[in-house]
Amino acid sequence: MSMTASDYFGLQDQSAVVTGAGSGIGRACALALSGAGAKVLMLDLNEEGLQATHKQIAEQGGRSLLQRCDTSDPEQVALAAATCERELGPCAVLVNAAGILRPGALDELPLAEWNKLLSVNLSAYFICAQTFGRQMRQAKHGALVHIASIAADHATPFSGAYSVAKAGVVMLSRQLAIEWAPHGIRSNVVSPGLTETGMTAPFHTDADVVRRRGAAIPLGRIGQPLDIAQAVMFLSSDMAQYITGQEITVDGGFVRSIMATIPRPGYERR
Ligand SMILES: NC(=O)c1ccc[n+]([C@@H]2O[C@H](COP(=O)([O-])OP(=O)(O)OC[C@H]3O[C@@H](n4cnc5c(N)ncnc54)[C@H](O)[C@@H]3O)[C@@H](O)[C@H]2O)c1
Repeated sequence: MSMTASDYFGLQDQSAVVTGAGSGIGRACALALSGAGAKVLMLDLNEEGLQATHKQIAEQGGRSLLQRCDTSDPEQVALAAATCERELGPCAVLVNAAGILRPGALDELPLAEWNKLLSVNLSAYFICAQTFGRQMRQAKHGALVHIASIAADHATPFSGAYSVAKAGVVMLSRQLAIEWAPHGIRSNVVSPGLTETGMTAPFHTDADVVRRRGAAIPLGRIGQPLDIAQAVMFLSSDMAQYITGQEITVDGGFVRSIMATIPRPGYERR
């Protein structure tokens, strides 16, 4: 019998949980995982957004459930985990994507803003990993994929606590990879570059800014949620069964382009 691409992924009938599935990158991940045959539980604060993703998944013949959930609240996450186990079976894949962006200069950033950002963008990743990880440990099988950012490695002016939280996500993932490898659980990170989503919509309202942002990227365009979801799919799947504690940057080459920004007389781009 010949193998199809879905067979290689090994995601058919697996249960997958995606946080932030009501918009942008989380939505694209939910669509991609369901397209590979997974049953997807989608969590988000934005119930309307979840309904829209649910409809798109149904239209492509996939299976999904949705639950309104604040991923930074351990009690709400515990309820979501119970839903997962009861309705879909033990969680085999967790994609941590729910996040917020609160720009601000550090010299004036209120402590409450700092705490809020760390709570949603870092602590919630830990809460979800720990809670859904229990189901993976029992099954002795699972894959965690955390959405960090190129900001995890590169200081970004006026980004408040965002870069700090994302750097924490990278180390959280490496810790989980080492602590849970003996339980058959892998943990990896996908770090998007500039990506067109609800989060970045305010930066993309001016056509000239969009053009200049695209021109700054070696592959010549801003990323789309699907670009990120494809890397997430790979790391979630059996195709990555020997990969753990790693990060994949999906940014069209942006963070590798620093040497292209300096003048080199005689070697200017032709
Ligand atoms: N868009 C980019 O350029 C970019 C770049 C790097 C990293 N990221 C990261 O990708 C992830 C997805 O972001 P996006 O760009 O798709 O943004 P988005 O705003 O389109 O989606 C984020 C989703 O998370 C949900 N959310 C926020 N707080 C929540 C909470 N406490 N509980 C549950 N859901 C919550 C929001 O309702 C929203 O639906 C985030 O972690 C973000 O930091 C985005």
